[in-house]
Amino acid sequence: MTEKTAALRQAFEEKLNAVGSSEAAEQLRVEFLGKKGHISALMSELKNVPADQKKQAGQTINELKKYAEEKILEKSAQMHQMEEQRRLDAAESYDESLPMQIECGSYHPITLVQRELEEIFLSMGFTIEDYNEIVDDYNCFEALNIPKHHPARDMQDTYYLSTGQLLKTHTSAAQNTIMRKYGAPLRAVFPSRCFRNESTDACHENTFFQMEGIMIDTDISISNLIYFMKTMLSEVFKKDINVRLRPGFFPFVEPGFELDIECLICGGEGCPSCKNSGWLELCPCGMIHPNVLKYGGIDTEKYTGFAFGLGLTRLAMMKYGVKDIRVFNSGNLKSLSQFISQ
Ligand code: PHE
Repeated sequence: MTEKTAALRQAFEEKLNAVGSSEAAEQLRVEFLGKKGHISALMSELKNVPADQKKQAGQTINELKKYAEEKILEKSAQMHQMEEQRRLDAAESYDESLPMQIECGSYHPITLVQRELEEIFLSMGFTIEDYNEIVDDYNCFEALNIPKHHPARDMQDTYYLSTGQLLKTHTSAAQNTIMRKYGAPLRAVFPSRCFRNESTDACHENTFFQMEGIMIDTDISISNLIYFMKTMLSEVFKKDINVRLRPGFFPFVEPGFELDIECLICGGEGCPSCKNSGWLELCPCGMIHPNVLKYGGIDTEKYTGFAFGLGLTRLAMMKYGVKDIRVFNSGNLKSLSQFISQ
């Protein structure tokens, strides 16, 4: 037994000398001192040792154990220190004459689509307006012909602040202010983030982006509306896509429409991204209701106009083939950094 212990001690020492990292020190600890390590194995052999030698043998093994524990602790501390020093040296070896390697960020897909649309509308004579995300009840609803307790409010539940203000549910909330600011004739688009109290799924989010557009002038009719929508879509998708126009109710337009596009993710077959209908509501629109024009200080005898509320987030889904709307707010750079302007 004494010889065996001595041989083990020698093996330990040899291996200890070869240790070159904190990781190797840990491996050595497990090999010798672990539950199934060499020293435990030697201990369990004690039972076969004749009674008169047991005490002595036990003592030598215990000494070896203590010795190994101390040595490993010491080695491990040395290794950690050395590794830390190496890290510091590497940091100091910064060389300012080397070419810079800065990782470039990328634009969020919604930003890309928004900018592209802004270009398109600018080229058609529209201005681009900015507006608050926190608005009051008047601008979000009343000025849009949605009085208190109107059932249309049910679809636009949102987050209310203790001040009575709210997070805007749609970009239409800026219509009144913009009409008052510029008067008629007027062509403006105003993109923004919107909020609704929604249960989220592949095509619904509580935070999403829209781009509102209004055009007010003498003799504006539904044909103008359809022309602008078609031009915009063909510019964005750069190919013909199937659209359908169906009646839609919004208190601030009369008549109102839903402009749907065929789902580009499933090709119209039906999938979770389009609620299995094959179509996606992309751009509700209509002729601005005379009450809304009046609230905005526009002479309804002279002027008419159209308005649309383009779903920017949905457009980005279709353009880039993103199946789940939740990707956009996920902050997941793996997904979000893949998009490039086209
Ligand atoms: N604001 C409406 C919505 O978000 C969309 C809309 C805008 C409808 C303009 C008609 C005209 O639901």
